[in-house]
Amino acid sequence: MKVVLGVSGGIAAYKACELLRLFTESGHEVRVVPTREALKFVGAPTWAALSGNPVSAEVWDDVHEVPHVRIGKGADLVVVAPATADVLARAAHGLAGDLLTNTLLTATCPVVFAPAMHTEMWQHPATRANVATLRERGAVVIDPAVGRLTGADTGPGRLPDPAEIFQVCLRVLRGRPLDLAGRRIVVSAGGTREAIDPVRFIGNRSSGLQGYALARTAVARGAEVTLVAANVTLPDPAGAKIVRVESTADLRDAVLEASAGADAVVMAAAVADFRPATRQGSKIKKTDGEPEPIRLAKNPDILAELGERRRAAGAARAGAEGSGVIVGFAAETDDVLANGQAKLARKGCDLLVVNQVGEGLAFGTPDNAATVLVAGGEPVEVPFGPKEDLADAVWDLVAARLS
Ligand code: CTP
Repeated sequence: MKVVLGVSGGIAAYKACELLRLFTESGHEVRVVPTREALKFVGAPTWAALSGNPVSAEVWDDVHEVPHVRIGKGADLVVVAPATADVLARAAHGLAGDLLTNTLLTATCPVVFAPAMHTEMWQHPATRANVATLRERGAVVIDPAVGRLTGADTGPGRLPDPAEIFQVCLRVLRGRPLDLAGRRIVVSAGGTREAIDPVRFIGNRSSGLQGYALARTAVARGAEVTLVAANVTLPDPAGAKIVRVESTADLRDAVLEASAGADAVVMAAAVADFRPATRQGSKIKKTDGEPEPIRLAKNPDILAELGERRRAAGAARAGAEGSGVIVGFAAETDDVLANGQAKLARKGCDLLVVNQVGEGLAFGTPDNAATVLVAGGEPVEVPFGPKEDLADAVWDLVAARLS
């Protein structure tokens, strides 16, 4: 695909180099169109070397090729990252003083803006109005991240992680909707560990891959995501708020807190059903004779509790106590569908993603196949494929229930 990467004059311009790499390494042809101000932060040779294409901020270079029209008309996607308050204003008002703004006026393809600026500029009524105008015209404007800005100050205005911008762009390129925009979603991932003593635990084989795929795809569909991660060693998915936990008790606290008022909660974590009844304060030593048996106590069922809370709140939708759509996962080795149907009813969730595990299936692998059981509806089969595809199938069903 042909991508135009517009870069405007903010300190975050250097992060656009990474975005450029993500595009080129996945086989896209990228033409970088910086503003004059962007070139004060990162020079044209950097953009030219990384993209393999000529770079200019002006309409007066290579005029015989009519670049001010050709670049925009030939693009499959234009992404402006970082987009300053100035470039948003010029785009909203249709000004055309340089090659980037000419390109924005001639592009008929989707346009994504990733703004980055100081909080005051982002919140100024002029910028708010310009963003609203651009969104009304169909442009995707990604809300900036919250965090450290150029100086000592912090707040909304940071350029989101290039990987997050890239995911949104891929989604737009594939024509997928941002149908979770404005939704608050909680995903649990990984597997809980129950301490036996300070060095040993009871745990399970969950890698967190499916939960992380769910978080990543929800961010790419526009959601605000809290990811409660139990003992996962994968790289953080961009754009999600991560809460790290170890035990089932920690996971329960984090999920219940994050799910108050959420639009959807997806329990992809493998939760230990039992924990040692007592945790030894010191390392258990090897002794002669028979070892002491480990007595187990039952853990709370978090998914069932979410369903119970929602029922108690009498809310079919998000409320102060209840959560919105509730999704469970069930890994089964035998009688997969029958066990799944019984679990869906028992736990009071809306969707239950059932898959067969064991013998190299599902755990730690990048691919998965599953059946999504739907309360009051027909099951949906998701064929064997990347965990991202299964995640998208889940979000399709969640988005349908939310709308
Ligand atoms: N789950 C939970 N709390 C638990 C156990 C499980 O919230 N204590 C959630 C999991 O995150 C998953 C779903 O319930 O979304 C089903 O998990 P599973 O282990 O298959 O269910 P169990 O109730 O433990 O049933 P089983 O008898 O098959 O172990």
